Amino acid sequence: MIKRTIVALPGDGIGKTVLDEAIRVLGAVGFEAEYIEGDIGWEYWKKEGNPMPDRTIDLIEKHKIVLFGAITSKPKDEALNELAPELKEKGLIYSSPIVALRQNFGLDICLRPCRSYPGNPLNFIRRSANNLIEEPKVDVAIFRQNTEGLYGGVEWSNPPLKVYEALMTHPKFILNFGKVPVSQISVSTRIFTLRATERILRAAFNHAVKYEYKSVTLCEKPNVIRETSGMMYKLAKKIQKTEFPQIELWNTNIDAQMMWLTKNPENYGVIVAGNMFGDIVSDAFAGLIGGLGFASSAQYNPDTGIAVFEPTHGSAPKYADYHVSIVNPIAMIESACMMLDFIDEQDRAKKIRKAVAELVFEGKIRTYDMMKFLGSQDVINKGAASTRQMADAIIGKL
Ligand code: NAI
Ligand code: MG
Repeated sequence: MIKRTIVALPGDGIGKTVLDEAIRVLGAVGFEAEYIEGDIGWEYWKKEGNPMPDRTIDLIEKHKIVLFGAITSKPKDEALNELAPELKEKGLIYSSPIVALRQNFGLDICLRPCRSYPGNPLNFIRRSANNLIEEPKVDVAIFRQNTEGLYGGVEWSNPPLKVYEALMTHPKFILNFGKVPVSQISVSTRIFTLRATERILRAAFNHAVKYEYKSVTLCEKPNVIRETSGMMYKLAKKIQKTEFPQIELWNTNIDAQMMWLTKNPENYGVIVAGNMFGDIVSDAFAGLIGGLGFASSAQYNPDTGIAVFEPTHGSAPKYADYHVSIVNPIAMIESACMMLDFIDEQDRAKKIRKAVAELVFEGKIRTYDMMKFLGSQDVINKGAASTRQMADAIIGKL
């Protein structure tokens, strides 16, 4: 086996803890790699005025495969306050290194799988018609366009004259907002491009074929957001018809989808959506399979092969300084499995997932979230497993 080089970006808070555990699990399954640690996060904002220094960008450029923990972000004013004194007057403005990562490397495909592990007490359950408790199997892969749409960052408060004049050429703008003083207007745009929309759709369909899902559900709102959602819907129909006739295309509205996913989550396979709706629907599905302790993600650029694997959760600062860490490492470990899938190490990924599945099913070792405790230092005394104990138990199963 060739020894891989992986860029490890622990980031802040519990990011460091869970990443360490995932790397131990990768070692235990026989995955040989050199991990090069990169600097990212709050510490570098405070010290250097840049939460993602250029040397980190170079590392990623060079080695391509990234395991990422989590970072801390804070609002603009707080960010400025915490800067090193010599940097305070330099006019630096904090912006999230995660967004920078996506934009820098064009990581336009985001995949968030949500699979329930049988036996997880956090799984979604419902009551059947004859009053029995049912636990539907959830196995959904959400593809979220990761670089444009409502999170594209093209926005203004009190827009400049040229923008305002352009808006005033639109009959709906004149009708609904034409009498509002420009100083009272904030605009966030929702820009979709043909190329990026095609790429996310194709990624979704290809995934459906590769992993034998029978349907792809487009989850937008084309009846109301006619231009962007509408364009995506039209493209989805075309791509399905011409390239993936064996896969069914379903079309749901984001609002209705949020209702249906608690009614019949087992009906869905691959879901595809623009940036914001993808963000929303993936969090909703994650809630059905155990929430932040279980939700993983991959962000990648199919052209360059640069890919970042990370849990969906943040740095959970309130648990960061616990002297025994209590957070669930499974989301990070599952993210590491997604990395293995991506680099053609599916067998090892399978082994890790099997170990996690057995452990969750047995139910003897559970972190505080799985025991439905509120997070606090004494959950360990109440019988919750620590982060390390959970990882050790998974390694034991391997
Ligand atoms: P968070 O995800 O860090 O924590 C929210 C709550 O979820 C925690 O208090 C904890 O109860 C629970 N939780 C999170 N991870 C868990 C785990 N592995 N096991 C068990 N429970 C877990 O989100 P929050 O508190 O909104 O943000 C904290 C910081 O993280 C902020 O600075 C935020 O900007 C940043 N953040 C970073 C993300 C990233 O790096 N991708 C994503 C989300 C937030
Ligand atoms: Mg989110």
